[in-house]
Amino acid sequence: TILIVDFGSQVTQLIARRVREAGVYSEIAPFTQAEEAFARLKPKGIILSGSPASVPDEGSPRAPQCLFDSGLPMLGICYGQQVMTEQLGGKVVSGSGSGDGERSGEFGRAFIEVAEECVLFDGLWQVGETHQVWMSHGDKVAEFAPGFRIVATTPGAPFALIADDARRYYGTQFHPEVVHTPDGGRLIANFVRHVCGCAGDWTMAEFRAAKIAEIREQVGDGNVICGLSGGVDSAVAAVLIHEAIGDQLTCVFVDHGLMRMNEAEQVLGLFREHYGIKLVHVDAEEMFLSGLAGLTDPEKKRKFIGGAFIDLFEEEARKIGGADFLAQGTLYPDVIESVSFTGGPSVTIKSHHNVGGLPERMNMQLVEPLRELFKDEVRDLGRELGLPEIFVGRHPFPGPGLAIRIPGEVTKERCDILRKADAIYLEEIRNAGLYDAIWQAFAVLLPVKTVGVMGDARTYDSVCGLRAVTSTDGMTADVYPFDASFLTRVATRIVNEVNGVNRVVYDYTSKPPGTIEWE
Ligand code: XMP
Repeated sequence: TILIVDFGSQVTQLIARRVREAGVYSEIAPFTQAEEAFARLKPKGIILSGSPASVPDEGSPRAPQCLFDSGLPMLGICYGQQVMTEQLGGKVVSGSGSGDGERSGEFGRAFIEVAEECVLFDGLWQVGETHQVWMSHGDKVAEFAPGFRIVATTPGAPFALIADDARRYYGTQFHPEVVHTPDGGRLIANFVRHVCGCAGDWTMAEFRAAKIAEIREQVGDGNVICGLSGGVDSAVAAVLIHEAIGDQLTCVFVDHGLMRMNEAEQVLGLFREHYGIKLVHVDAEEMFLSGLAGLTDPEKKRKFIGGAFIDLFEEEARKIGGADFLAQGTLYPDVIESVSFTGGPSVTIKSHHNVGGLPERMNMQLVEPLRELFKDEVRDLGRELGLPEIFVGRHPFPGPGLAIRIPGEVTKERCDILRKADAIYLEEIRNAGLYDAIWQAFAVLLPVKTVGVMGDARTYDSVCGLRAVTSTDGMTADVYPFDASFLTRVATRIVNEVNGVNRVVYDYTSKPPGTIEWE
């Protein structure tokens, strides 16, 4: 085990992720609880995270002395490096407080020059080479602590990487945990394996076992309610929780009738029949469609669906006699986003709706077993839990469903048309072996009719738009570059097979400036 001491950096979870990728178990403890966590975990090594704080400031956080007394290896990242330096007798200066009026910080890409050999570079970097790293710091080390040497430098950080081999202390000014430090994951792997001596044989199976124990401890003999959306995250959370507490879990599937083809049946089949999970199916198609009647403004549609969803969920929760806990498939990117958005006003582009709106309304404790994970890790965990590939690898689907893929008024008829076109598009994508290379692919049904000709007759029908993007987190996206022949095949099939569509167009807009969904 590796203990990661969190000083409040936005990217601490990325450190944990890199350690997991190296096949080593880690736990993150806020610096205020690091001493207790250290005693409990008996780790083989310690990593100190970055922080928005500044070491020279009075009252800024420090690492507990017991960590230094333990004689264990330690890696300090950014603030972690600075706090180590300060506590071991070196000197840190603040970027703004140097008195010369100049900013001395470094933000973004930097190039590090390897000056000396170091165990962290095993199989990776040679003396004299230059490599890209990612910097984000105002303060810096001015004088390193006794016992350290400089192993690598950047133009803005003469102490970009320092080492005290005797005590096995290492400090990086840059952030090895972010993807913009391309070799960072391997530097961290070298630390946890070669320096700390961890075996590197930890797997998702152990994560599953550890989480199950954690859920049991948190929940005790309480009851848990979980909203299923049909998406990967809530599905994995539900199966994991079910494995931990069995029938103490009730899932509620508010079926708004705005799902893709056969999706609702798949959810019911999998959860009820395959896993034997207690599942309440709220068939609310009519209620949603009648509420959507006459609504054309995207935000009004979103607000209605989000509100109705929460009302129905609450009602079901009441019917089953309430619950002590609300389970959610919150992932780490959801956590960072919600944290960073509290920092200042941000413009609402779209009112996102998912079960995430529930906690404020329902005064329940949360069970969020996926909070540390990233999407691809959740998929791995889903596979570990035996969820079928078709479920685990599924493209993300927005909470408001097809309603935001039908600009203008949503009707049952238009939902059915869209479902057919979308199913053909996805079938062709799967047949071409492209499904997993795409982040999201879907059809939209436009409120525009155009003239066409079929079998010598005039047609006057709707336009269907096709969208496919690549992305890593949905925040930015690129258009997927299909072959023209592929798109032609899909267009032909849709126009031939779907009554109500006589023209197909492809959306070539990246995000930004477009968003992924059309509304
Ligand atoms: P946009 O359209 O904002 O979408 O570029 C980014 C990602 O978020 C998904 N999305 C949603 N997910 N509730 C959700 O759970 C929503 O209301 C919602 N709106 C958009 C979208 O599918 C894409 O993956």
